Amino acid sequence: MSVCLVTGASRGIGRACSVELARAGWDVAVNYSRDEEGAIETARLVQSLGRRASLFRGDVSSHEESRVLIENVERELGPLDVVVLNAGITKDGLLMRMSEEDWDRVLDVNLKGVYNVAKWAARAMMRRRSGRIIAISSVVALTGNIGQANYCASKAGIIGFVRALARELSRYGITANVVAPGYIQTDMTEHLPNEVKENLTRSIPLGRLGTPEDVASAVSFLAGKGSAYITGQVLPVDGGMSMGALT
Ligand SMILES: NC(=O)c1ccc[n+]([C@@H]2O[C@H](COP(=O)([O-])OP(=O)(O)OC[C@H]3O[C@@H](n4cnc5c(N)ncnc54)[C@H](OP(=O)(O)O)[C@@H]3O)[C@@H](O)[C@H]2O)c1
Repeated sequence: MSVCLVTGASRGIGRACSVELARAGWDVAVNYSRDEEGAIETARLVQSLGRRASLFRGDVSSHEESRVLIENVERELGPLDVVVLNAGITKDGLLMRMSEEDWDRVLDVNLKGVYNVAKWAARAMMRRRSGRIIAISSVVALTGNIGQANYCASKAGIIGFVRALARELSRYGITANVVAPGYIQTDMTEHLPNEVKENLTRSIPLGRLGTPEDVASAVSFLAGKGSAYITGQVLPVDGGMSMGALT
């Protein structure tokens, strides 16, 4: 039996990862912080594929709640093989209007949340000398974006953090990689005006926004046997956006 944990799995990319991992044969620990109804629906989708799913409420920005989360996952589902560090938020605004509170909250959830969950998960994986850590960053960690200084900093921080983990944990048989999605159609990007979405689409070589399933396939690859020799890497899933414009 193989167990994975997906943080922020109540909708969007986290839900798609849960479903894709279930399809690949994993039992899924579904983490969420508030959206219980969404998390129940994710669990139902996993179970409909014949895999076990359990719900775990917990705010990843809390070190203690993250410790309890990993403890509960292992108690209820068994040894954790894969953790997908997906929970994330935005609180956008130009730097001059960005409050300290909005800076802190985005860094706390997106970057400290990755440290919190990765730390407790790695501790459990080190004992068994195997495991996969997959963190969801963003294309804007590589390109920057107006109005997202806090978000870009958190997502760029994830890349440095995971590369350090890849080096530290390789001797324990644990790999650590990053998936960097481009613009994906979820609640997070739903509020963007149509004009912005049209301009964005024009800037994407593959000519469309991404789907949560596009990201989930990459995550499933990094969780599977075929990626055993890959660690410390950043895999953009962005329709070619991070290649930059032709001049
Ligand atoms: N959509 C995009 O275009 C895009 C692009 C690049 C990267 N990403 C990244 O991909 C990840 C998922 O994004 P998404 O578009 O699927 O976003 P979403 O639809 O807004 O979903 C975010 C998920 O994170 C959970 N979450 C938020 N704060 C949490 C916390 N403190 N503790 C635990 N869970 C928490 C939410 O659950 P609750 O509501 O229960 O809190 C929800 O399940 C994020 O890290 C995001 O930055 C998204």
